Amino acid sequence: MKAQTVTYKIEAGKFQWELAPGKVIGAWGYNNQIPGPILKARKGDTLVIKFKNNLDEPTTIHWHGLRIPSMMDGTDDVQKPVLPGETFEYRFVLPDAGTYWYHSHFNEPKQMERGLYGVIIIEDETNLKVDADRLFVIDDMKLTADHKFKQAGWFLPRFIERHDGREGETLLINGKEQPTIEINAGQTERWRFVNASSARYFLLNLGGKSFQIIGTDGGLIENPQTATELLITPGERYELLAGPFEEGESFFIESLPYNRMTSVKPKQQQFARVQVGESKASVAVIPEVLRKITPLAAQDAEVARSVKFSVGPSLKRGLDLKINDGIHAHDEPVKIGDLQVWELINASLMDHPFHLHGFFFQVIEENGAAPEYRAWKDTINLPPKSTIKIAWMPDNRPGRWMYHCHILEHHAAGMMAHFEVVDDLMNATARASEYSPHQFH
Ligand code: C2O
Ligand code: CU
Repeated sequence: MKAQTVTYKIEAGKFQWELAPGKVIGAWGYNNQIPGPILKARKGDTLVIKFKNNLDEPTTIHWHGLRIPSMMDGTDDVQKPVLPGETFEYRFVLPDAGTYWYHSHFNEPKQMERGLYGVIIIEDETNLKVDADRLFVIDDMKLTADHKFKQAGWFLPRFIERHDGREGETLLINGKEQPTIEINAGQTERWRFVNASSARYFLLNLGGKSFQIIGTDGGLIENPQTATELLITPGERYELLAGPFEEGESFFIESLPYNRMTSVKPKQQQFARVQVGESKASVAVIPEVLRKITPLAAQDAEVARSVKFSVGPSLKRGLDLKINDGIHAHDEPVKIGDLQVWELINASLMDHPFHLHGFFFQVIEENGAAPEYRAWKDTINLPPKSTIKIAWMPDNRPGRWMYHCHILEHHAAGMMAHFEVVDDLMNATARASEYSPHQFH
């Protein structure tokens, strides 16, 4: 099929959004909906986003997972934030099939919490055939009894939110509270999950039924993997095959208790109900090999860089969430074509989901062991006191990039680093020493 240019108009704005019958919130979102519109295109297409900011504060859009030029990454390292009433055009080629997402990259703890996120689905030729393709975008909101966004409040609650990340008791799938999903018996469906929440760890369970994992952040994996539970941390995507189920069955899409070592008590929580109706013939074809993924590096590849995640007290701010002992850190540049083997060390006592902008990586070792299967990732959980080894290749997309913890409050509190991808390391190192962060502010 010939590559096309796919254009969408997206406006960020404020509107009333009904989470459940009679439960209306003052939301912020894209095109007056939560999630924003699903952007659909095919691998190789050019995506054009004509964006307008109708909020009364600046914003930008980050295209989480897309391997696009640095200038289109939507951070304030590479663009001037779009001011109220202003427009901006994002334009880039889509190099990979898979499930991606887009979200505000400005004042994220507030803008994303209120609904500024959406999903991008990029298709490609595949011999995988399913009976239906569904999207489940996970989120939660912390609301007051009269459906207002709860303020973080005074010192102690603010401190706790900075430490734990913001979790709320309003549980959403596709912007709705406790929806019922009707499916036919006998069907095998492709279910795409995106965790768009600020801090919630979602340990997926489908009423104890087994399912097959077929894709991760960067598209399909090599072979379907059977599982009964699956941890999806903030920023991550997973694709699975669900079903076939039996007529009359009913079960919850729920999250099992996961202790991420904060003051939030782990609980089992229901997000949606699945109701299985009458049987329908299946046309699904599930190949044993979904695709091939060439390994980037051996498990024992030499580590070129260590990145340390830690949490510590701060006289000024109460608590610092740190990268390499600094906040809003600056890491060394990397050279185009130089394979990067990084060791991510979580020295803290709680979990952090690590996200690398603009590039996929492969996990090559988790606490000394090989991962269960090979996959392209852009976000990976770092359990407390763990070391995860990743490999990634900086291709020819020079410019400013970043990595950070995807718990939004941790990112805001400093658990992030800027770095540059360059074609000449000597010059870049000289430049890095002069670079001041937030150059556009
Ligand atoms: Cu979805 Cu900077 O992240
Ligand atoms: Cu974190």
